[in-house]
Amino acid sequence: MEDLARKIREKARERGATILAHNYQRPEVQDVADFVGDSLELSIKAMEADAEIIVFAGVDFMVEQAAILNPEKKILTPEPSSICPMAWQLDPPIVEEYRRKYPGAPLVVYVNSFAEVKSMADYVVTSSSASKLVSKLDEEKILFGPDRNLASFVAETTGKEVVAVPLNSYCPVHIDITMEKIVMAKKRAPDAKVLVHPECPPETRRIADFIGSTSQIIRAAGEMDAERFIIGTENGVIHRISKLYPKKKAYPVSDDAICPNMKKITLEKVYRSLISNEFAVRVDEKIAEKARTVLERSFNLLGVEVPWRKK
Ligand code: 13P
Ligand code: SF4
Repeated sequence: MEDLARKIREKARERGATILAHNYQRPEVQDVADFVGDSLELSIKAMEADAEIIVFAGVDFMVEQAAILNPEKKILTPEPSSICPMAWQLDPPIVEEYRRKYPGAPLVVYVNSFAEVKSMADYVVTSSSASKLVSKLDEEKILFGPDRNLASFVAETTGKEVVAVPLNSYCPVHIDITMEKIVMAKKRAPDAKVLVHPECPPETRRIADFIGSTSQIIRAAGEMDAERFIIGTENGVIHRISKLYPKKKAYPVSDDAICPNMKKITLEKVYRSLISNEFAVRVDEKIAEKARTVLERSFNLLGVEVPWRKK
């Protein structure tokens, strides 16, 4: 494995490629990447990277988002079947249906959605920016999708009326991080702090000590005055916590908290991507331009600079 990791680094250098990996990737894939982060950080890194080729170890909507933001770069996915089942739960006909039903309500879409849906939205957010952006909007009624759990988290934290679009969309990994599982884990480690993702159900969030994106959870483990943590998100973040804070101990809520799509990407596939230029991800330019306008509006509201307009 070490030999393959070394070959990947050499090939990436030779080809001027940057490797980005999400916090849920396999430990060895995280370790070979130039940068590991949450959805927002990876979007920003993809824009900032001084590289012609980006190998993106993440699920479909993340790679597509990098392609939207970087039309001049070659964006490669090591495994095109690595999908996010939640992103597939919101499509253009559903957007049109809710637009008709709630005229005048702004539509905020989660980054876990596809280019066409983003191009039809008013704003795009990530788990780390959703509440901040919605709290800045003048309107009191907001359409938000996909993910009914993140929608209810945004409602709780902003005091606004948030309608989930569609009503019953969810992440199959986080829906299973139940309050009962947290209570069981707490019995095994009563002093541990509970850190969860906002995609978890409301009852789970209610008994958590901290709620945030994957990178916010990792940072919280470093900053909190505690030695042990129960991690209420996909187990990939445990590798980063152990690496960054070797004196701290992070436990999974359950060994099943695994996103199988994230785990499809292996070192072999990253290497294959680098040597064969596969698999390139492209977005229809008209849709991409509309989606960029929505992303730019969202980044502006959040105070994030958009490099493609600086030129
Ligand atoms: P983050 O933006 O927190 O990394 O989350 C992405 C995701 O897919 C969570 O399941
Ligand atoms: Fe999608 Fe859930 Fe996997 Fe995140 S953990 S990529 S939301 S299926």
